[in-house]
Amino acid sequence: MHLAALLPLATASLALSQSNLPGLTRDVVILGGGSTGTYAAVQLRSQGKTVALIEKKDKLGGHAETLYLPNDQYVNYGIEGFFNNGLTKTYFSKLDIDYELLLPGSLITKYVDFRTGKPALPGDGLLDTLTGLLLYRAAISQFETLSTGAYYLPDPIPEALLRPFHEFVSTHALQGALNLIFEFAENVGDLLNTPLLYVIQNFGIPQIDALLNGGYIRPKNGTDTLFNKAATFIAPENIFYSTTAIHTSRNETGVEVTVQSSDGTHTLIRAKNLLVTFPPTLSSLKGFDLSPTEQSLFSKWTHMQYYAATITNTGLPDGINIANVNPDNQPGSLPLPPFQWELEYSGVPGYFMTKIVAPANFTAEDAKELIVDNLRSMREAGTYNTTEDPTIAAFASHSPETLMVGVEDVKEGFYSKLYGLQGRRSTYYTGYTFCTDYSTPLWNYTDGVVGMMDL
Ligand SMILES: Cc1cc2nc3c(=O)[nH]c(=O)nc-3n(C[C@H](O)[C@H](O)[C@H](O)COP(=O)(O)OP(=O)(O)OC[C@H]3O[C@@H](n4cnc5c(N)ncnc54)[C@H](O)[C@@H]3O)c2cc1C
Ligand SMILES: *[C@@H]1O[C@H](CO)[C@@H](O)[C@H](O)[C@H]1NC(C)=O
Ligand SMILES: *[C@@H]1O[C@H](CO)[C@@H](O)[C@H](O)[C@H]1NC(C)=O
Ligand SMILES: *[C@@H]1O[C@H](CO)[C@@H](O)[C@H](O)[C@H]1NC(C)=O
Ligand SMILES: *[C@@H]1O[C@H](CO)[C@@H](O)[C@H](O)[C@H]1NC(C)=O
Ligand SMILES: *[C@@H]1O[C@H](CO)[C@@H](O)[C@H](O)[C@H]1NC(C)=O
Repeated sequence: MHLAALLPLATASLALSQSNLPGLTRDVVILGGGSTGTYAAVQLRSQGKTVALIEKKDKLGGHAETLYLPNDQYVNYGIEGFFNNGLTKTYFSKLDIDYELLLPGSLITKYVDFRTGKPALPGDGLLDTLTGLLLYRAAISQFETLSTGAYYLPDPIPEALLRPFHEFVSTHALQGALNLIFEFAENVGDLLNTPLLYVIQNFGIPQIDALLNGGYIRPKNGTDTLFNKAATFIAPENIFYSTTAIHTSRNETGVEVTVQSSDGTHTLIRAKNLLVTFPPTLSSLKGFDLSPTEQSLFSKWTHMQYYAATITNTGLPDGINIANVNPDNQPGSLPLPPFQWELEYSGVPGYFMTKIVAPANFTAEDAKELIVDNLRSMREAGTYNTTEDPTIAAFASHSPETLMVGVEDVKEGFYSKLYGLQGRRSTYYTGYTFCTDYSTPLWNYTDGVVGMMDL
């Protein structure tokens, strides 16, 4: 039961005095119930604080998505695992989550140029995973301030961080590690031409050290289990599903947030603090009383489109992954946007996971079409006997993903200005525009932000 449904139907428009709206008081209003917002709500609740968690969709999880199939089978086609470390395990035990080591669905990878459907060779001199990891780690470890995953840049900012990644690859002879780096940083799109800073922020010391020290774990019975248990812990009356914030009024002593649910109900929530966890873009913050600094910083993001799907009835053989390579793009033979990254065997017979990385104008329909077109090319090229009517069993947009700003803005102190927003007018920020896009380091960063609140 959603709390909004219990409230008297409010017809008050925003033009009416806000004091006429049904109102609530909480310590913290959290916007976004993905991995970060859910974690923040759980932490605050365990510290005895009151929260209102506002989520646009009808479930918690954000980038975490599980497709449940008959016979207790499931496919995690968004988040697959969390770092196997103390922070994750403490969180899991607080929520009573059983977990297991995350193992790949298959260790066999075939390489195909998805543009032609024909088999192709991966990049030259491919290093084994461990060698590639250690070589890349050694090369990036000079940027110590980035090692927690936050955008804490050295002052002055080393020019190398702002140069295209291919220069760093050539200086440090990382050609053989490109495939591995791409496995984690494919969301940047054109990897070789992405500034080094953003490659490191998508695959840096936190991710490498997790791989070297225990790997990844996942909740038994799907990542959704984590969010279902978290929802129970947070308690239904504190979670507003299918709801967004449409108006804010913030000052140093507190915030007033008006939220609107999909049935049109408005609720006014007064709180000591506001925590924004989704990417703070001008469109996601429509109706907010943005300061000139917020307005200026949030107008600078560029992003990628990112779609995740589970497909079945493909005709592809079980037990293999098919990676997309582009021999025209050297070094590394990496595909260029818009691209379907990989067909990854899910471990459930007949089911493959896939991801589409594309520029901002690439729609969900374009993405679905690309999936079907690529399978057709493989059939026409005689590479795989794919079917003519594959089924997209689950599909999600994770856009906007990979939020970046231009190197000139980085040089002019974008990130120190961004962190300078923390606490202004009782407002705090977390999520993958503030720290690397991986749950465990995001939780750690979020702990720091919650610790800054004066509650
Ligand atoms: C396909 C995919 C696979 C991934 N795999 C892994 C993995 O295996 N391990 C890992 O650690 N990380 C993985 N990641 C990274 C993942 O993004 C982070 O781990 C983490 O989920 C980010 O959480 P978040 O809460 O910051 O953002 P999100 O998950 O994006 O959460 C934001 C939430 O805010 C909601 N929202 C958006 N706008 C509004 C609004 N206006 N009002 C209210 N609510 C709103 C959204 O619906 C969403 O629930 C993966 C990402 C993708 C896309
Ligand atoms: C967690 O965050 C704190 C800052 O809040 C930082 O000092 C620490 O190094 C981080 N831990 C890891 C493992 O990154
Ligand atoms: C796994 O989770 C799904 C969805 O919540 C549920 O329907 C199913 O019963 C669970 N299976 C097991 C074995 O717990
Ligand atoms: C902050 O806003 C609240 C109401 O929104 C108001 O009562 C209070 O006086 C304001 N405080 C300051 C310091 O402006
Ligand atoms: C998207 O924009 C690019 C230019 O940036 C253009 O070449 C391309 O055709 C556009 N694609 C779609 C699907 O509109
Ligand atoms: C596709 O099917 C045909 C006819 O059954 C068979 O001869 C061929 O070997 C198959 N090709 C592949 C790649 O499996």
